[in-house]
Formats: sequence, C-alpha cells, structure tokens
Amino acid sequence: MIESYQKDCQRRVDSALETLFMPPRAELERLFRAMRYSVMNGGKRVRPLLVYAGCQALQGDLGQADGAACAVELIHAYSLVHDDLPAMDDDDLRRGQPTTHKAFDEACAILAGDALQALAFEALSQPSGNPADPTLRLEMFAQLARAAGAAGMVGGQAIDLESVGRRLDQQALETMHRHKTGALIEASVRLGALASGKADALRLEALQTYARAIGLAFQVQDDILDVESDTTTLGKTQGKDQAHDKPTYPALLGLPAAKAYALELRDQAHAALAGFGEAAEPLRQLANFIVERRS
Ligand code: IPE
Ligand code: IPE
Ligand code: MG
Ligand code: MG
Ligand code: MG
Repeated sequence: MIESYQKDCQRRVDSALETLFMPPRAELERLFRAMRYSVMNGGKRVRPLLVYAGCQALQGDLGQADGAACAVELIHAYSLVHDDLPAMDDDDLRRGQPTTHKAFDEACAILAGDALQALAFEALSQPSGNPADPTLRLEMFAQLARAAGAAGMVGGQAIDLESVGRRLDQQALETMHRHKTGALIEASVRLGALASGKADALRLEALQTYARAIGLAFQVQDDILDVESDTTTLGKTQGKDQAHDKPTYPALLGLPAAKAYALELRDQAHAALAGFGEAAEPLRQLANFIVERRS
C-alpha cells in the first residue's frame, strides 16, 4: 500500500516540479539545466509525501498541497547540492549520479542551489496549487522560511560543520539533527496540514509531535545507513560520516542502540496519531518507511 501511495505522490509532485525548469532566456540554459539536474534525479520525495499525507490526514484536497510539496523538495534539493560541495561534505555521488558541482562546476552548483531556494518560495506564492486564502499562504511561507533558515536547516548544517571531530553528547547531537533534518520534515507535515485549510490547534499539535519524532528518526536512520548500507544501494558514498569524523548516533550509541532509538521514535510517532483514524494511515506508513528504508 505504501508503495503505490508513494508512487502516486511521486508522480504527482514530479509532474508539478517538471514545469519549473524552463529557462526564460538562452543565456540561462546551463543554470536551469543544473537546477533541473539537482531535482529531477530520482530522490525518494519523502518530504512531498509528508506534505500530501499531512493534508490527507485532515481530509484536505491534495490539489491545494502541490505548491507546498514542490517547495519542500526544492529546499531539500538545494540543501543537498550545497551539502555535497567541497567546502561542506565534499561528496562526488548523489542519488547514484555525480553531484551537481561534479557534473557542472562549483560556482554553478552554488548558484543552482541559491536559485532552487528562491524557487521554493515562488512555488508557495502562487494561488494555483496552494490554498486560495492568502493569509494561509503567508503562514505557510513563514513556516517554510523558519524551517529552511538559520533557526532550522541552515543552523543545523552550521552546527554539523562545527562539530566535526568533536565528541557531542546525546543532547547536542539531537539538537543538531533536529535542526539540519528535523526542521524541514516537521515543516512538510505542517505545511500539508495548513494547505488542507482544515487545521485546528489541537490537531496541529498532534501532527507536530508526530513530525518531531519522525524528523529525528529520519536522520538517525540516515546515520545508520551510512554505516551499514553500501554505495550502490545508497546512491551516495557509504562510510563518509566516519571518514569525516562526524558525530552520529551509531558513533555515539553503537549500532544496536541507534536502531532501537529509531524504532522508539517511530512508536512515539504512531502514538501521536492515535486520534486520527483511517485518514492518517499514509502518515503511519511513512513513519514505518522512514525507519525501515534501506536507502
Ligand atoms: C538525505 O535525504 C539527506 C538528509 C537530510 C539525511 P534523503 O534520504 O531524503 O535523500 P533523497 O531526497 O531521497 O535523495
Ligand atoms: C544532510 O545531512 C542534511 C542536509 C540538510 C542536507 P547529511 O550530510 O548526513 O546528508 P547526506 O548523508 O549527505 O545525504
Ligand atoms: Mg552533511
Ligand atoms: Mg552529506
Ligand atoms: Mg548522512
């Protein structure tokens, strides 16, 4: 069931994304090619899936969530392009292909990332694919800006880079993960819920509890896979965290305890959805997928 749901949502967001990379003038052809290369290259689309599943949990119309689904994936794709740069994680492989700075060049990758970030907000600003109510769109805009910026993903990346070679305790590691990965995942669920136009404070809070748990679980599993998967399955070079002496959950707790923690977080996520019934089934399945995935 999760497979067909995943495929439907992937198709849905991919067809919306596909319309965004038409260069407005010939001089920009290469930049747009780099942007398209960085997005339309087989990502799992977990964040758009969470947007749609968040909207569906409140019985919203998915047509109002397309803008948010594109926006979170564009922010994510930009974060990966910059994460892979030599000044950051210095990776050559992403989603089974050369990273953007390898396929193009560093300056082009920096600019493509910058442009993808701006494009994310453009995608949210349009009435089409978003809720008609401009106040709601503005709230979604603000949520995404906070999650993407220094208080969210960018802040987490800064902590990550400053932590190389240091021993973080579990609390500091959790803070880093909640920022660099959790913030955008939390925003994805929230944006989906807001896009439905049916969110109330109580249900938003329950969804927030769910999203906090899977946001952290997602990066714990990413750290686990970096240890025990292989480069072909991952589509990115296995073992880079250890090579760069990054603080990770397996490094801090050991693999068995890191795995047990991911499962505990999944259970917390399920518990948060207790009051939602059948409509939240995609969210439940996504929580399972996040800790069971192999890539
Ligand atoms: C990888 O994210 C980077 C992290 C935030 C851990 P994903 O595992 O969602 O990567 P794609 O989008 O499927 O390539
Ligand atoms: C990346 O974390 C988080 C981002 C905000 C991009 P990682 O550096 O662990 O992601 P991968 O393993 O390169 O995909
Ligand atoms: Mg990184
Ligand atoms: Mg990386
Ligand atoms: Mg990683």
